[in-house]
Amino acid sequence: MILFNNNTFHITNGKISYIFKILRNEQLGQLYFGKAVKQRDNFDHLLIEKATNLAPAVFQGDLDFSLEVLKQEYPSYGTGDFRDPAIQITQANGSSITDFVYKSHVIKKGKPSIKGLPSTYGDNIETLEITLYDALIDVEIILKYSIFETGLIRSAEINNFGENSIKIDRAMSASLDLYDDNFEMITLNGAWGRERHIQTRKIVKGVQSISSARGASSAMHNPFLALKREDTTEQTGEVYGFSLIYSGNFLAQVQVDVYDVSRVLIGINPFEFEWKLEKGESFHTPEAVLIYSDEGLNGMSQNFHNLFKNNLMRSSYREKARPILINNWEATYFDFNEDSILEIAKTAKKVGVELFVLDDGWFGNRNDDTTSLGDWSVNLSKLPNGIKGLAEKVNQLGLQFGLWFEPEMVNEISDLYKEHPDYVVSTPNRRKSYGRNQYVLDFSRNDVVNCIFEKMCEILDNASISYIKWDMNRNITEAYSYSLSNLQQKEFFHRYILGVYSLYEKLIDRFPNILFESCSAGGARFDPGLLYYAPQAWTSDDTDAVERLHIQYGTSMLYPIASMGSHVAAVPNHQVDRCTSLKMRADVAYFGTFGYELDLNNLSETEIEQVEKQIMFFKEYREVIQLGDFYRLQSGNFYSWMVVSKDKKVAILGYYKILASPNPSLKKIKLVGLDETLEYELTTPSGQSFSTTHFGDELMNCGLILETEFTGLIQAENFPGKYTPGTDKGDFTSQLYIFNAR
Ligand code: DGJ
Repeated sequence: MILFNNNTFHITNGKISYIFKILRNEQLGQLYFGKAVKQRDNFDHLLIEKATNLAPAVFQGDLDFSLEVLKQEYPSYGTGDFRDPAIQITQANGSSITDFVYKSHVIKKGKPSIKGLPSTYGDNIETLEITLYDALIDVEIILKYSIFETGLIRSAEINNFGENSIKIDRAMSASLDLYDDNFEMITLNGAWGRERHIQTRKIVKGVQSISSARGASSAMHNPFLALKREDTTEQTGEVYGFSLIYSGNFLAQVQVDVYDVSRVLIGINPFEFEWKLEKGESFHTPEAVLIYSDEGLNGMSQNFHNLFKNNLMRSSYREKARPILINNWEATYFDFNEDSILEIAKTAKKVGVELFVLDDGWFGNRNDDTTSLGDWSVNLSKLPNGIKGLAEKVNQLGLQFGLWFEPEMVNEISDLYKEHPDYVVSTPNRRKSYGRNQYVLDFSRNDVVNCIFEKMCEILDNASISYIKWDMNRNITEAYSYSLSNLQQKEFFHRYILGVYSLYEKLIDRFPNILFESCSAGGARFDPGLLYYAPQAWTSDDTDAVERLHIQYGTSMLYPIASMGSHVAAVPNHQVDRCTSLKMRADVAYFGTFGYELDLNNLSETEIEQVEKQIMFFKEYREVIQLGDFYRLQSGNFYSWMVVSKDKKVAILGYYKILASPNPSLKKIKLVGLDETLEYELTTPSGQSFSTTHFGDELMNCGLILETEFTGLIQAENFPGKYTPGTDKGDFTSQLYIFNAR
């Protein structure tokens, strides 16, 4: 519901309220964002006007009205507000002072999409569009707000009607001034192989930010931040979540001013960004997601999960359980041929896998990572029957076939580079940096995007391909495009990502049934922007079950379980050399898309039987896991999380221990999200059943006592000198518990 009364906008979905008003100077001022409040005639008492020494005033003799103190809705710099602005525009005379005042507004049914950018959609959505206008330069900004059941979506459109061109120096997707600074800030930080670890810090006066200037959202920081109260837990307390539906350079920051107001800004990174707007042209920012929950971090996460599942992912797979796949990368790396691939595929079919994915190395002369990117024609010495022939054989086995591409890249040793060295991102007369021996193609150019599209179509038109893994293994350096004028070079990064989106768009248009999985050297471009096109993403190249606990726990802050690519890989693990049991590897990988990434033919008969059972279990419960509600319960040396089916009749708890300790204390864990009145029977995937049933209210209040952690168990078994090691003992152990309502 979007209400307008007494110059005040009140956007509410019954759970949250977002209130701002047209101020006396006709600009917009922020009043409140948080738990829903009732509509009333007037919210002016929430407006704080206050004189302070040194604060510039807007009106003569009215020192209380200062932009330095007022909370702003879409602030600009230089007319009294000295904090970082949401908008900055350089004009013909070199000035960047603007004065955008309220002109009109419209409340629309529906949720408009944004041309060229990923955007949310939905039925029964209301959208508010407020036009702000600066008469001196004849430029308008349309601020857009759409209210979903889960949260608020904001963006801004800038239209230049003036005779002169303008230069946008920054245009944030959202700005929000919160009343106080009593918050801890959560961000997801990492690096290759350890993406999206949770970092929490108390916010302090000044700016605290995360960003990317790599041309991709990055493994280092995710376009997300949350502000929580100190006592907010996974299940209780207040939290604000912000995320950007974008895959390129971003900035997310909190600036605390001297009056303790916390200003949150999120949008395209203004560093190395400019956009020239001629008369008649417009620029649209990506969308920002604003979420408020008073039900703890899980409350926030579930809003993100449901928004992304229901209103962002476009693929028909968004509401379907995902196929169980096997990927050959860690099984073979570049060293494979048709026979070896079919050997893996045959065993995969036998154990119940549904999709075979052929990874890197099938094209050009690619036997290592030094050549052939850009040459998307089949290496016939490895695959004499081509992709078409291999896909047919895999299909005949009863498996779907999927294929790896890295569309945005080229190797120096390739036909594409020989023909078109100008396609590469590089700065005139400067050296070009390598990343994994490869260069980045200039996707800001339509001709480059079209060339790659044609090459991919040649493969996709001729073979039965159900899935594409779209990889991207380096970041952008020496950013520059030969197709842009000198004055437009700082548009490059944004134009690049628009090119990536346009290729996705073309492929989806032509091959609507293909399931896309995005990937970037693991999870270096795992962001909401790409979820719009690819409903799942390879979470990390790190397939170690222990590291995956940290990564998947952090990723679940905002990304749904069904979007996290997660595979069981071989041990010793290829990234950290750790050995964990086949059981634990599966117990972790179940909470994702689930698949395998190893040579099944290297497993013993007993292990193969175990894999068969794992797949049977997952097939039985994957709808619950991928389409149900996910809750994080605890992290640290012990991790646990759970899923509950939408009807609350089935729940699965995952419980993981990293390091064992002697004589451990009794472990009890309180479950959440169940139906208090239902009586649940408890089993494990291995078929163990327990005589006691549990009511939902007991599980949520008294908790479940975890027997494998029972004090003294291991010591008692050892006495008098008999020790039998087991997979549920010692370091790196896990247990799944299944709750079925009677
Ligand atoms: C990086 C990806 O994350 C891996 O899964 C694999 O596809 C390799 N690239 C292939 O080069």
